[in-house]
Amino acid sequence: TITTSDFRGIYHFTPKKNWINDPNGMVFFKGEYHLFYQHHPFGTTWGPMHWGHAVTRDLVNWEELPVALAPDEHGTIFSGSAVVDWNNTSGFFDDEPGLVAIFTHHLEVPNDHPIQRQSLAYSKDNGRTWIKYEDNPVLEDKMFVDFRDPKVFWHEQTEKWIMIIACGQTVCLYHSPNLKDWTLGSEFGTGIGSHDGVWECPDLFPLAVDGDASQEKWVMLVSIGADPAFKEGSRTQYFTGDFNGISFVPDEASHTVRWVDHGRDNYAGVSWSDIPAEDGRRLFMGWMSNWMYANQTPTEGYRGAMTIARELTLETRDGEILLVQRPARELEQARKPVLSLQDASISQVSEQLNTLRLVNYEIHAEWASDLSVQFALRSGVENETLIGVDATENEVYVDRSRSGIIDFHEHFLGRHAAELKAVDGNQRLCIFVDHSSVEVFANDGQAVITDLIYPDAGSKGISVHTDHKDLVFSSLHIYELSPVQA
Ligand code: FRU
Repeated sequence: TITTSDFRGIYHFTPKKNWINDPNGMVFFKGEYHLFYQHHPFGTTWGPMHWGHAVTRDLVNWEELPVALAPDEHGTIFSGSAVVDWNNTSGFFDDEPGLVAIFTHHLEVPNDHPIQRQSLAYSKDNGRTWIKYEDNPVLEDKMFVDFRDPKVFWHEQTEKWIMIIACGQTVCLYHSPNLKDWTLGSEFGTGIGSHDGVWECPDLFPLAVDGDASQEKWVMLVSIGADPAFKEGSRTQYFTGDFNGISFVPDEASHTVRWVDHGRDNYAGVSWSDIPAEDGRRLFMGWMSNWMYANQTPTEGYRGAMTIARELTLETRDGEILLVQRPARELEQARKPVLSLQDASISQVSEQLNTLRLVNYEIHAEWASDLSVQFALRSGVENETLIGVDATENEVYVDRSRSGIIDFHEHFLGRHAAELKAVDGNQRLCIFVDHSSVEVFANDGQAVITDLIYPDAGSKGISVHTDHKDLVFSSLHIYELSPVQA
């Protein structure tokens, strides 16, 4: 029997109570990383949306704060972003720069389509309290029924704010001098990308290619909603290209659909705004669920979690510029070393793993590239989650068919795989495991699989299997991950 109260992640953000979905308004300000999120404060399923709020100084230990934005006469509060208005372009601030949230007001209309319009709120006290702008909404569009999830950033070259916003099955790019008056620049998405669902939660940001700032490319993230016709449910795609302040021109490679994550449970993810230039990272976090079954997952008292914070980079692999994800380095602070082996044979590794009983941990394994290896994690009498590299198929996979509770949705069970590109003659797997999730980063973040699992609390076993008796792990490290609130 599986106890559903044991599913709360140890090092993942979860709300104390009730429902959450998309991360919203992620912004760094005065030493704090803010995370707002779609939240139903009165129920464990999706309902009238508010913005919940949490902060962290280290991307591991979260402090949940009171609800930041609640519904009003313009509707409930859907997804959106937040920025620091350093130069007081909005006129909301006096002496000190403050935060501006740009979000969708979603208004239900009896016997008609809901109306989605964009609004502002600002905070003069580090996000603790918010004042809604008196002239809300600031942007509406009569054409699109689905017009939502504005992500705003300051564009140096044109000295304007840019808003990327989902418009049905395209995105629109607006610009503004003051966050209040918006002008349409262009629309993107017709005839390109996946249209398996409504487009949601876009993001747009520049990244250096292979760390070379003179080789900058723009990355566009676009989440697509669940459509019953597709057993993958909701997922997130990306495009690379150029952006001049008005329009986005995709690279050749973006004419093939490319996914941010090959698992089922990384949706609506966007990046943090205002990370200081001396840090320079592009940090990302997604909602660790899927609209296909998000309202049915078997947790108690709360529902929904975020992925770990991840750093995004663009790297050339096999001649193609790819979006690469790595766990944010701050997670290393939560590590407690459990096992560290170098040049270890498969029998040595097996023997060591068999003695371990772990729930919340991280595994790093490296071995010569032409050999298949499979780990069985969170394993017990009835459960196991299989994670491995199939060298013949050249893929990394997660198989959660026997992972624990799977019967709350017909498409929950299954195997999810991603293609691997050769790196340097080695395979590298980095796997984050928690009470109800696995996050797999293969080949230094080239392929990522994020999947929820609901195993029995007693399923703590770890084992490894390969057909190659001579396999040697050049290295294998395991760390338990237990953040301690300061
Ligand atoms: C994406 C989404 C957004 C919307 C929000 C509503 O998961 O559907 O498009 O703003 O969730 O909660």
